[in-house]
Amino acid sequence: MIEKIEQLLQEVDHLQASNTEELEALRIKYLSKKGAINALMADFRHVPADQKKAVGMRLNELKDKAQEKIAALKEQFEAQDTGLDDIDLTRTAYPVGLGTRHPLSIVKNEIIDIFARMGFNIANGPEVEDDLHVYTKLNFAADHPARDMQDTFFVNVNPNDVTKNIILRSHTSSVQVRTMEQAQPPIRVICPGRVYRNEAISYRAHCFFHQVEGLYIDKGVTFTDLKQVLLLFAQEMFGSDTKIRLRPSYFPFTEPSAEMDISCNICGGTGCPFCKQTGWVEILGCGMVDPNVLEACGIDSNVYSGYAFGMGIERITNLKYQVKDLRMFSENDTRFLREFEAAY
Ligand code: PHE
Repeated sequence: MIEKIEQLLQEVDHLQASNTEELEALRIKYLSKKGAINALMADFRHVPADQKKAVGMRLNELKDKAQEKIAALKEQFEAQDTGLDDIDLTRTAYPVGLGTRHPLSIVKNEIIDIFARMGFNIANGPEVEDDLHVYTKLNFAADHPARDMQDTFFVNVNPNDVTKNIILRSHTSSVQVRTMEQAQPPIRVICPGRVYRNEAISYRAHCFFHQVEGLYIDKGVTFTDLKQVLLLFAQEMFGSDTKIRLRPSYFPFTEPSAEMDISCNICGGTGCPFCKQTGWVEILGCGMVDPNVLEACGIDSNVYSGYAFGMGIERITNLKYQVKDLRMFSENDTRFLREFEAAY
């Protein structure tokens, strides 16, 4: 009997199975009720009493080893089972809910694209600014009404020195100031970004909106250059038959200053409710940079001149997509946002 046990111990030590069926066959051969080990257990009572202890120990060892070996092989097969057979690779994929670009981002990128092709770089700056960069260096008088609580959000008011007031920028001209402080001409930048004004929220005004402002400073820059660049922009943005018109205006930081209208892109200039029957709609402010601004930013106004312009992205978007209520842009109503799925 002991020889039989030793032989089985050898066998069990070298058990191999290449699939689960073979493994099951081994289990039946060694461990089932009618298996080899149980057969030995049944014969155990014939073992002479003085050998019972030694044979019994060896037999138990065999049983444990067989169980262990078969369990290990089983585990190996389970780890290999990737479940791949259960996946239907021909099945249509689950629909993935793709987001859409925000209409203001679409239009902003379009504006940036047009000016980038004309050689403008993008400049960025902080939204929380000081008075110096938003107003003082832009030639705003100390008592200019734009500094008033009506327009400006104040973060921190300095009782002794207005230029040190910390505010939310009310235009991105502050980025132009920062650019001029850091670089000498030629400077050709556009400054896209969010700006804040303390206005009551309605369908036509919000307490924040978005702008793209532009600045070009070099030797001999004239108003003609400004007009040509703005005409090219208007035609790229609204179509090649778009006309522009410049009306005299006033900004503290430009002289002369103008406001630019484009021929109404809805009625084509014949007059409609959108352009209040005038055939024209206003889209931006512009002008030649005031020498005081150049000097305040460390640029010699006897050598250099330049132009600047600024537009609201919401306004351009309204003209392109006829959005009637400004508040739609910040409500994140996906029914509205999805309408722009195809735009980009
Ligand atoms: N900064 C002006 C505004 O916010 C726009 C502007 C920029 C006008 C540059 C002229 C020149 O309204």
